Amino acid sequence: MIEQIASLKTELESVSIQSAADLENYRLTYLSKKGKVAELMPLIGQAPVDQKRIVGQQINEVKQLAQDLFDQAQQRLEESGPVLKKATDDLSLPVLPFTQGGLHPLSLVIQEIKSVFFRLGFTIADGPELEDDFHNFTALNFPPEHPARDMQDTFFIRKDEPGKPDLVMRTHTSPVQVRLMQSQTPPIRSIMPGRVYRNESITAKSYCLFNQIEGLYVDKHVTLAELKETLIVLAKMMYGSDVKYRLRPSFFPFTEPSLEMDVWWERKSGGQWLEILGAGMVDPNVFKACGVDPDVYTGFALGLGVDRMAMLRYGLNDIRDLYDNDVRLISQFA
Ligand code: DAH
Repeated sequence: MIEQIASLKTELESVSIQSAADLENYRLTYLSKKGKVAELMPLIGQAPVDQKRIVGQQINEVKQLAQDLFDQAQQRLEESGPVLKKATDDLSLPVLPFTQGGLHPLSLVIQEIKSVFFRLGFTIADGPELEDDFHNFTALNFPPEHPARDMQDTFFIRKDEPGKPDLVMRTHTSPVQVRLMQSQTPPIRSIMPGRVYRNESITAKSYCLFNQIEGLYVDKHVTLAELKETLIVLAKMMYGSDVKYRLRPSFFPFTEPSLEMDVWWERKSGGQWLEILGAGMVDPNVFKACGVDPDVYTGFALGLGVDRMAMLRYGLNDIRDLYDNDVRLISQFA
């Protein structure tokens, strides 16, 4: 009996555990319910009464030794590398693909534009996508029935209730300017990002919905020079200090004078100018419609085409790529 215990002790001391598989083997052979240590247990019952104590003690010692050897080997293996949880785990199996989320290219560009304006002291504001005629057109100096409204092919939302005027899906973010001036007293210095909608034929360059960022700066003595400087800083921070840009006179009902900014788009097939924004000095009529005194305040406004800026930034040729959510494209931005 005593010999049987002693021989297990010798056996244990000679086992070599070099790998996770060895460790698991060891556990099964010696420590499991049907293992060699458990096999010794009945010996206590079989031992003569005067030897029970000593047999019990020796079995306990072997049991402790078996456990200690296991613990030491496990620690050693853990320190030298990962331990497999199960002997059946197979390190040579291919790893499951690790998918990582990322921001959409439009979100990335919006973030960049925001950070430029934050550095210039602008705050952020928001307005509804479903607008009324007053905010989308009238307050912005589009006279009723005036052809200027045709500049923007509008999605009208007909209300079939008598006396209720139609609503519009906002055609630009400029109505948020109006809401801002109605609800705050100048100085106001905010940008207003958001989605806008136009009933346009869908092509590589135009889509029925797109993103704009409106900017508004109203205070005493705001000048056109400040507007130009702001636009130039924006272009340089977005596209590098050697960016090729131009400012062209233009027309918008809500600004006077008005201008547009183009950035040179270098392509393999030759370059071209791409219009990225409209801007101008806020028209006094707009101030009046919003309850701001044009004799006291001046201001500039601007509206950026986020999609154009994203296309330029990432060399995309088709605006629709920004809305298809084709993983082959958007996963490149993760
Ligand atoms: N709202 C104009 C558009 O969608 C863009 C724009 C032009 C906004 C000039 C402005 C501005 O604030 O001053 O075409």
